[in-house]
Amino acid sequence: MLLSGTGWTLSFLWPWEKRNNYFFGYNTDIIYMIPILAGSPLVYVCNGNIMRQLFSNEGRINMIKPHELTLKSIIGDSLASSSGDIWRRHRRVLAPAFNPKVHQLVWDESSMLYDEMISAQGWADQKTVIVPNINDVIIKFSLLVIARCAFGLPGAWLDDTEAGGVVQGYNFTEALSTVTESFILKLIFPRKLFMLPFKRLRHIDKCWTNVEATIRAIMSKATAEAEYAVNDQKTEPKASVLKRLMASLHGQAREELSEDEVVADMYTLLFAGHETVACALYATLGYLAIYQDEQEKAFLEIQSELQKGRPLNVSNVDHLQACFFEAIRLRPPPFMLPRDMDQDMFINISYPAPEIIILKKGVRIVCDLIGIFRNPHEYPEPATYRPSRWYGGASADTLLFGSGPRTCIGRNFAHNEAISFLARFLRDWKVHATLQPGETLKQYEDWVMGIGYMHGTAFSVGSVALTLTRRQ
Ligand code: HEM
Repeated sequence: MLLSGTGWTLSFLWPWEKRNNYFFGYNTDIIYMIPILAGSPLVYVCNGNIMRQLFSNEGRINMIKPHELTLKSIIGDSLASSSGDIWRRHRRVLAPAFNPKVHQLVWDESSMLYDEMISAQGWADQKTVIVPNINDVIIKFSLLVIARCAFGLPGAWLDDTEAGGVVQGYNFTEALSTVTESFILKLIFPRKLFMLPFKRLRHIDKCWTNVEATIRAIMSKATAEAEYAVNDQKTEPKASVLKRLMASLHGQAREELSEDEVVADMYTLLFAGHETVACALYATLGYLAIYQDEQEKAFLEIQSELQKGRPLNVSNVDHLQACFFEAIRLRPPPFMLPRDMDQDMFINISYPAPEIIILKKGVRIVCDLIGIFRNPHEYPEPATYRPSRWYGGASADTLLFGSGPRTCIGRNFAHNEAISFLARFLRDWKVHATLQPGETLKQYEDWVMGIGYMHGTAFSVGSVALTLTRRQ
């Protein structure tokens, strides 16, 4: 998987590379992958109805997240890496923290951060800005949103060294990006390897150590502040995600987490909470730069709300929301959802023919979101960016954020962050693709947007080069 694909081996991104012709031209809902030399057979699923059947039963039928495909061996049990009763304990602690108050905070902070970003980047009085790689700006934006809204850190756009003033002397954003980029190496190789005197390996180890030190420092700071608040009758800290996690250290058994589990959840939220949204935004802006008519529709929608004097929010910009969903469909940030079956289960399949089949205990299933979202039986002309397919479809059942009890806990967080950012961005700027001399928009789409790329733990397009012109 680490090597690029050949006729005999598959690369890590094989579902992307083979997206147009696998699942036998989408004429079968599931395929069995049988490794020749090592490993156990896998069942890949490319039909959304089967994913719903599987995951809606996840509370009733025990399914296990495969340890080697999560960060469990590195960070231990967390919400995303655990299964069964341990997972339920983590979910009970964290679910109430993703509440309307926090989502409003995300909307407001994203809007303030957008203004900070524009002035810190020196774009405030520019009429045209050429951005060689918008990803660099967006990843920083999404990291600061999660740092502020989940952990209450006062990270500022220009204050990169600390993302909240907790561990001095190193660049937190860079350390975190090294951590996310190296997680596959950390999964495969033993810790001792990173002690060897090779500059790159030592650097990776140092970044992991520093990020963990930051997380533990945030916890100590939160403990100190909570004691201070109790003594001084001060108001509660507004970061309810961190607060719930800290409270769980002394919770009742059903909601109690150990210190290591809290650290693991903080890692998880840092990873899951910033790379996913950033990746979805790279893709949304990239597609909107190509599909100018969709961008114009989004702009007119935003403008019309503002002219009516209505404050923007996630529910009054339907087309913009659809543009965001459509980008996630074409580039799902988590694209493989694996589970090990802990008991037999019957499922209905439709292709090649309607049939009931049995998935045996012990088998590993993988819901392949790239395949599911490009299945022409569910998404006609699947390769076309067409936001209108999501009109009126902002229901909980989009599958874009998973399905069943383990559906994305940060869905509304992501939604508020992304739409708040996009609404302001598109209000102020007309976004164009930066074309190389002689390059056509079609070539830009084929080459730049045709690339599938892992940004740490999340999947998206590669670097997106944009030219921004200020709207009047
Ligand atoms: C566009 C952005 C996002 C997308 C597309 C996305 C997608 C998903 C999907 C598909 C799952 C299900 C995984 C599975 O069933 O194995 C998931 C789970 C999860 N997501 Fe998100 N996510 C996004 C943003 C976020 C944010 C902002 C956070 C946190 C602030 C977050 C935290 C999590 C966590 C902790 C889980 C595991 C939940 C559990 O196992 O109970 N995600 N996400």
